[in-house]
Amino acid sequence: MALRTLDTLGDLSGKRVIVRCDLNVPLKDGVITDDGRVRASLPTLQALLDQGAAVIVISHLGRPKGEPAPEYSLAPAAARLGELLDAKVTLADDTVGESAKALVDGIAPGEVVVLENLRFNGGETSKDDAERKAFAAELAAFADAYVSDGFGVVHRKQASVYELAEALPSAAGLLVANEVDKLDRVVTDPATPFTVVLGGSKVSDKLGVIENLLPRVDRLVVGGGMVFTFLAAKGWAVGKSLLESDQLETVKRYLDEAAQRGVELVLPTDIVVAEGFAADADHEVVAADAIETSKFGTEGMGLDIGPESAKAYAEAIRTSKTVFWNGPMGVFEFPAFAAGTQAVAQALTEVDGLSVVGGGDSAAAIRTLGFADDEFGHVSTGGGASLELIEGKRLPGLEVLGW
Ligand code: 3PG
Repeated sequence: MALRTLDTLGDLSGKRVIVRCDLNVPLKDGVITDDGRVRASLPTLQALLDQGAAVIVISHLGRPKGEPAPEYSLAPAAARLGELLDAKVTLADDTVGESAKALVDGIAPGEVVVLENLRFNGGETSKDDAERKAFAAELAAFADAYVSDGFGVVHRKQASVYELAEALPSAAGLLVANEVDKLDRVVTDPATPFTVVLGGSKVSDKLGVIENLLPRVDRLVVGGGMVFTFLAAKGWAVGKSLLESDQLETVKRYLDEAAQRGVELVLPTDIVVAEGFAADADHEVVAADAIETSKFGTEGMGLDIGPESAKAYAEAIRTSKTVFWNGPMGVFEFPAFAAGTQAVAQALTEVDGLSVVGGGDSAAAIRTLGFADDEFGHVSTGGGASLELIEGKRLPGLEVLGW
């Protein structure tokens, strides 16, 4: 079935439209460090405002536990939206309380009201269907139509993603439609060789992903903190590097399965080993099977793939026709340990085919490292959502929109 798009909602002039965005931006001391998700939400919001709709923006930020927590306020994101949008933007003090009701009552066409963090209300993420439905009904009372534009949460069966879409005439916004269009090409008919590059710190976050991707990919390239569980599964000592011992058996099974299926599993041959986890930590490059021979011995900690590995990873990527990348190769926030991630990002820009950067951390990494989004085929705003989509899973927030 086809995703319901904005035009299916008809003329929205004079209507109140509630838009589920993903304004879950990274913050440091209350300041946004990457406003990519705010920018990504602009086309749909501007299109609705241009049609003469009054727009109510809803989003989560972080994972507060069902009650207000000031450090998770949407205030910085709402302020940024106000700077970027050609419209009056006002933030309510609550989500469905008195402040929200008063602002929504007074909203005029062409104006924007942002409701406070959805997750300040337990109904948003409740496991109880009735509680989610009740919260969705309160949100639905504010509007005539619903637009789903928070791609980063379409894999979540949460009130603002699923039940709210059922409660009102609903459609996908421009961001969600574009994400589905680009990622669907990776899922349904990837030109081969099809390579998935996985990084990031935790292998346990990516277990299901690896399992589901092994039957689909030609090459699986692994880096980041999670790679040390792979190296340990090969029987190599990894010093003080990140290691999830409870995942060793599972990873061994993946090594076997990859070999049986003829999937080329690309692992590092060298590692940048540091004295400790710090930007200025002393470090040296050693062979991946000899981490403890570094001058730091068993205290050494791998913080990036080495230069030989970076070259091999770049080659595996560059010679592919479809590449999906999720998760940095090392601690890219520290310049001394950013070379692996830099090499992978650079290689993605050189792919003669479709290159997709999936997710929060990788998207932040490319921008931190000085790349522009348009150097890649597509930069997804969704981390977990884009991974689940390319794994071939059905996502509740898309199913409810007819997909
Ligand atoms: C994300 O950052 O991937 C999305 O905003 C979803 O956030 P969540 O994992 O807390 O649901």
